[in-house]
Formats: sequence, C-alpha cells, structure tokens
Amino acid sequence: MAGVKLLLSSLVMGLCAYYFYSTEQITPEMVKGKRVLVTGSSTGIGEQIAYTFSEMGAHVMLTARRAKQLQEVAKKCLQLGAGSASYVVSDMGNLTSAQNVAQEAIKKLGGLDYLVLNHIGGSGSFGSFQGDMEAVLSSNTVNFLSYIQLTSTSLKALLESQGSIVVMSSMSGRIGAPFTTSYCAAKFALEGFYSSLRREFKLNNNNVSVTVAVLGFIDTENAVKKVGDKVTMSASPKEECADEVVKAAVLRQPELFYPYWGIKPFLLLRDLAPTLIGDLLDKFYVLENIK
Ligand SMILES: NC(=O)c1ccc[n+]([C@@H]2O[C@H](COP(=O)([O-])OP(=O)(O)OC[C@H]3O[C@@H](n4cnc5c(N)ncnc54)[C@H](OP(=O)(O)O)[C@@H]3O)[C@@H](O)[C@H]2O)c1
Ligand SMILES: *[C@@H]1O[C@H](CO)[C@@H](O)[C@H](O)[C@H]1NC(C)=O
Ligand SMILES: *[C@@H]1O[C@H](CO)[C@@H](O)[C@H](O)[C@H]1NC(C)=O
Repeated sequence: MAGVKLLLSSLVMGLCAYYFYSTEQITPEMVKGKRVLVTGSSTGIGEQIAYTFSEMGAHVMLTARRAKQLQEVAKKCLQLGAGSASYVVSDMGNLTSAQNVAQEAIKKLGGLDYLVLNHIGGSGSFGSFQGDMEAVLSSNTVNFLSYIQLTSTSLKALLESQGSIVVMSSMSGRIGAPFTTSYCAAKFALEGFYSSLRREFKLNNNNVSVTVAVLGFIDTENAVKKVGDKVTMSASPKEECADEVVKAAVLRQPELFYPYWGIKPFLLLRDLAPTLIGDLLDKFYVLENIK
C-alpha cells in the first residue's frame, strides 16, 4: 500500500515538473553570443541543433567527417543569424582527432559555453548480434569514448564559463532494445558516465550543467533509412526535437524526454513490470524485415 502511494505521489510530482518545465520558455538574449560546439552536425538532429542556436545569435562550431555538408550547414547558420559559424572535419573513431576538435573549437571561439555531444556512427547495421567484435569496438570508440575525450579536453573551458554539456541518449540508453547491441551499450555507458559526472559537479560546487536528452524515434534521413521498415513506431520531427534539446540545455535541465509521452510511461513502468514492458516494446519490431 505504501508503495502504491509512493508511486502515485511520484507520478503526480513528475507531471507537475513536466508541466512546469514545458511552460518555461527561453529567449534569444539567453543564447546570443554564446559559444557552441555541436558534434555530428553535418545532418540530422545535430544540424537542426546548430540552426536553433544560430537563430538565437550563438557562435557555432560544427564537426563531422564530410566537409562539403558542413560547409553548407555553416552557410545556413550564418543566414539564420549565427554570430559566427565554422567547422572542423574529424572522424570520432580517432580519439586524437576528437581531442583536436575540442582544442580547435576553444581556440576559434575563445572559450566554450555549450558542448553538444550528438554524433553517432560505427555501430554496424541493425540486426542480430553474431559475435562481431569489430562493431562493438568501433561503436565504443565513436559513440562513447570520443564523447568522454571531447568532455575531457573541454573541461577547463566549461568550468571557466560555467557552461553546459548536452549528451544525446535514447530510450535504448535506458531499456535494452533488440538488434542494436553495440548502440545500446554505448548509450547505457554514456548515461552512467554523465549521471555520475553531474553528481560530482554538484558536490564540488562546479557550476557546469549536464543535460541528457533521452530520445525516441526521430525522423532524420539516416534513422529512417536504417530502421524505417523495421519498426512500427512513428517518427517525431527532428526540428522540434532540436528545439526541445536546446531549450532543456539553456534551462540547464538534467534530463529531457522527447517525445515525452512516447518514452516516459515505459520508463516509469519498467522497474515495476520489466517483462511486461519488454514484451510490449517487442511488438514494435517487424521481424520479417530484420536479419
Ligand atoms: N534519429 C533517431 O531516431 C534517434 C533516436 C534516439 C537517439 N538519437 C540520437 O540522436 C543523435 C543524432 O542522431 P541522428 O539521427 O541525427 O544521426 P544522423 O542523422 O545519422 O547524424 C549523425 C551525425 O554524426 C556524424 N558522424 C557519423 N559517424 C561519425 C564519425 N565516425 N566521426 C564523426 N562524425 C560522425 C555524421 O556526419 P558524417 O557522416 O559527415 O561524419 C552526422 O553528422 C545520436 O546521438 C543518436 O543516437 C537519435
Ligand atoms: C588520428 O588523428 C591524428 C590527428 O588528426 C592523426 O595524426 C593520426 O594519423 C590519426 N590516426 C589514425 C590511426 O588514423
Ligand atoms: C551557474 O551558471 C549559470 C549560467 O552561467 C548562472 O546563470 C547561474 O547564476 C550560476 N549559478 C551559480 C550558483 O553560480
């Protein structure tokens, strides 16, 4: 009985917090002139995050592997009102290269206010685990270790600016999802590292915020191509996703769930009824299209 009461009251508190946060707004003045590094910004959610920051007058630094795409995104950032927009080409499969990105950004921007860790790659194709160690190692480097490297190299600048770290996670960073073992592993690892770091900052009175964005299925070109015919969930718009991520970052919120109602109920119920929730989520997969 006490458990049920606790559950109900936490549900009510959660809803109140959701209502409060979702009605709180940000203004361009809060962002104008801020120095932002967005990784994986040649396309997808990262590209949109760069645009949202640009519209509010931030200085943006972009990075990914493809120079031509980055050049076009940078041009559009300037058109949208960015204080400045530049890019550095880098492969996050190489940690020295990741280190260079953070150093370049801090040098070029003269410091750093927002470190947005968003890139994703190297986790192999969507399918069953068949013992492929290469995919696990490569995903671990690109999708986990490079995030930590970028954070490590940016730490001093972020402490100076009392800045913010934004980490893109997924429902697959909270509940194990099939056919994406390496991806899930990297996201769970990120959740562990950054939730620990957040506590540490608090206890050490370091005023650096850590926002973890827990996302559902988003309609980016790559995600739709990769899993569009393999899951029956509907994809949420990347533009709105990016706006919500930037808002949560600027408000220094510890967590963001987007789309909220597509994720939160599963997370709330997971510890109470893990088997039920697992079985429920399994129904979203189109097994005949998955190897
Ligand atoms: N879309 C979804 O459904 C969804 C759901 C949950 C969470 N998320 C998370 O949201 C974030 C963005 O997802 P997205 O769908 O926007 O991804 P995306 O469209 O595939 O974009 C990935 C970005 O990462 C870059 N990238 C890939 N491999 C790289 C490497 N080795 N080194 C450096 N950059 C690399 C890509 O650019 P280049 O190819 O030019 O290098 C691109 O800019 C990811 O962290 C993802 O896990 C997405
Ligand atoms: C990693 O990147 C660094 C710096 O960009 C470069 O000097 C080095 O050759 C790269 N290593 C590999 C294995 O590609
Ligand atoms: C922490 O940093 C933010 C943003 O720079 C600032 O608004 C806030 O006042 C700071 N809080 C403390 C306790 O210094």
